[in-house]
Amino acid sequence: MHGSGREVILGVGGGIAAYKSCDLLRRLRDRGYSVTVVPTPSSLNFVGAATWEALSGRKVTTQVFESVEEVRHISLAKEANFIIIAPATADLIARIAGGRADDLLTNVVLASDSPILIVPAMHPQMWNDAATQANVESLRARGYVVMDPDVGALTSGDVGQGRFPETARILDEFSAITQSKMDLLGKKVLVTSGGTREAIDPVRFIGNQSSGKQGYAVARSAQQRGAEVTLIAANSNLQDLVGVRTIHVESASEMLQALQQEFSQTDILVMAAAVADARPLQVADSKIRKDQFTQITLVENPDLLRTITQTKGAQVVVAFAAETSEDVASAQEKLVAKGADILYLNDISGGDIFNSETTHGFILIHGKAPVKVAQTTKDTLAHQLLDEALLQLG
Ligand code: CTP
Repeated sequence: MHGSGREVILGVGGGIAAYKSCDLLRRLRDRGYSVTVVPTPSSLNFVGAATWEALSGRKVTTQVFESVEEVRHISLAKEANFIIIAPATADLIARIAGGRADDLLTNVVLASDSPILIVPAMHPQMWNDAATQANVESLRARGYVVMDPDVGALTSGDVGQGRFPETARILDEFSAITQSKMDLLGKKVLVTSGGTREAIDPVRFIGNQSSGKQGYAVARSAQQRGAEVTLIAANSNLQDLVGVRTIHVESASEMLQALQQEFSQTDILVMAAAVADARPLQVADSKIRKDQFTQITLVENPDLLRTITQTKGAQVVVAFAAETSEDVASAQEKLVAKGADILYLNDISGGDIFNSETTHGFILIHGKAPVKVAQTTKDTLAHQLLDEALLQLG
């Protein structure tokens, strides 16, 4: 971390919620942060530079062409320990997601490698638009923390999701970022994700519903905590994560091959993938005609986890099992049988777990009572599992 560790850039987008950021700025200063405000030019329609200068005690510029000799965008980016963008409009989010640099704020964002918290506020229709949602998803995949706006009444009189969150909620989110640890620096983390596909013929396969979101969340979280991460990804529609080496595979046997290549150099393996338990005995070379498509003979796939843990040294291995909450005992047996150190019982009794953003279940560890995980995001679970794995790694 450079500088004082307490240098914050507050980027302000051109929305009516800009006035609420004045309170955020004051609370940040109360907490001992030095804040430089970088408003977008259009945001000055809502709150003027004079207000920001008075509240921050610092000069405010919006364009790269002001004070050119100081190369402001680079010096600001270097000095900042954290960047908060509040409010972030749909347009500002789109510009950041697109890598644009057409005002001082977007230049600073592009030039910075500090954690960035984005606090969107806009009309619900704009927030829910597919373009905005895709931009938000792409920013999150790149490690930006993008808050969800609050639900409630908007300036237009409409009600929905789009309100600027309360200052307290933004500060909570900001604290989580400032306290985020780099405790996996120097560690290698291997993650499997998605669902394997077993070919029947050149067009058909046996697959499963796994979205890959949980595995990606583990990979992203581990990378944020400083780990060198390799992700073995089977068939998910998710974008590759920046800074994560990704090996794309299709079938269980390809996944096993990749695991065997990577496992010996790994400190922590998180086996989040849903591996097909069986595959067709034969894969037809050409498409099977419908009158012959009446029967598929299956053979059992190897248990990848059991195979790989037989070569286990000091590695910590985390397994997953989708079960109903009554199955803690059988999950406990799986933990032992598969040679894993930790197993997350993904409670599927409520249904609707695939492709979901949240999860609930139990963390099982040898010799310890099951730890209940109440409904939470897949990112939070990822951090919890990494905490446990790190503890065991010693
Ligand atoms: N797993 C694996 N190889 C397989 C099947 C599963 O490595 N052929 C891994 C999964 O990635 C997961 C764990 O084993 O981490 C538990 O998966 P699960 O499907 O619950 O286990 P199964 O042994 O297939 O048990 P069940 O009979 O309940 O399907």
